[in-house]
Amino acid sequence: MSTFQAPKGTYDLIPPDSARFLAVREAISAPLKRSGYGYIETPGFENVELFARGVGESTDIVTKEMYAFETKGGDRLALRPEGTASVLRAALEANLHKAGNLPVKLWYSGSYYRYERPQKGRYRHFSQVGAEAIGAEDPALDAELIILANDAYRSLGLREFRILLNSLGDKECRPVYRAALQEFLRGLDLDEDTLRRAEINPLRVLDDKREAVQKQLADAPLLRDYLCDACKAYHEEVRALLTAEGVAYEDDPRLVRGLDYYTRTTFEFVHDGLGSQSAVGGGGRYDGLSEMIGGPALPSVGWALGVDRTVLALEAEGVTLELPSTTSVFAVPLGEEARRVLFAKVTELRRAGIAADFGFGSKGLKGAMKNANRSGARFTLVAGERDLAEGVVQLKDMESGEQGPVPLDSVVDVLRERLA
Ligand code: HAM
Repeated sequence: MSTFQAPKGTYDLIPPDSARFLAVREAISAPLKRSGYGYIETPGFENVELFARGVGESTDIVTKEMYAFETKGGDRLALRPEGTASVLRAALEANLHKAGNLPVKLWYSGSYYRYERPQKGRYRHFSQVGAEAIGAEDPALDAELIILANDAYRSLGLREFRILLNSLGDKECRPVYRAALQEFLRGLDLDEDTLRRAEINPLRVLDDKREAVQKQLADAPLLRDYLCDACKAYHEEVRALLTAEGVAYEDDPRLVRGLDYYTRTTFEFVHDGLGSQSAVGGGGRYDGLSEMIGGPALPSVGWALGVDRTVLALEAEGVTLELPSTTSVFAVPLGEEARRVLFAKVTELRRAGIAADFGFGSKGLKGAMKNANRSGARFTLVAGERDLAEGVVQLKDMESGEQGPVPLDSVVDVLRERLA
């Protein structure tokens, strides 16, 4: 029988690489935790209707990429393709918007699922860290989120990313633009599918990746020229705040995102070392989403950064994270008596907060020392019968190679001091 493999478009996170993923998640969430965002966790699946209504009935995500299924009980569910609709659903369900001050600021981290054509940087199971600020219309909030993502990436040592910024208007000005764009698209030489899309969701056509289509779109009207005064002023304020904080961005009047809920501010973080899957993160304002899923009017803004692609971006820039070794002390027992004594010592070290590991299994000294080496431990403790008779263990500094006896009773104190 052949062994199993991870499903197509997925991969396993295994040590030592998995430590980098944890470090990236930590680096992205750290600025959020310092900025009043509380942690939220929602189920990995939701009612399919939540995404259909929230993300948009005619988006690729909903029509082509969703893992939708019917349960034995007849419920129509979908593995979550993104986090915003779920987080807003949970906030509404818990009445968070009525409980205290607005905005309700939340952050999350988890797995998301899209049935996409797999390639480097595009997976069917991927990982995001995200943030949502629910229930406030304030350009400073949009700016805050963009600054926090920027700072997270910078704290990781990333430099070759760019921030693309656009405004998608609101329910006043977008319909006017939509009509103008539709009029323009009707005059082009497009295939039937694309023409149909132009009728249902013309902004989606702007996102068409085909060169032949893009060529025809060169003279397409731009939303920028249709923004109402309120949207224009709002966008100017977001831009001014970013500039004041030294966050560089590029105006991209053609930026449309793959989800339909966006209004006004939209942005994408792109990394130039990643090839075609260059978006490492994205987000924007979604002032109408709450009402779209049955809630009250709650203007909101948020983003999600892709952990997988952020790790690829680190690789592309050649950034190595400084990850402290997970094990500080490795104990190698020689003989049965020593096993019991050193096992107790390892437990004592761990309880004292020192990361320690043990030579499990019946390996000889050589094999056990190999394990000690691989663990990355700074110190090893070795003890045999003679050491125990003298009440000592041999402490070896793996960096300098120095070795000497230490009384059993003072091992924890000595190690604490030398690791400090
Ligand atoms: P999104 O742009 O669809 O936005 O996804 C955000 C990030 O998730 C992308 O920039 C990318 O790094 C990562 N990502 C998406 N799909 C894949 C995939 N198939 N494989 C690997 N990485 C992927 C959202 O999901 C919105 N919910 C963001 C948001 C939050 N807007 C407002 N609040």
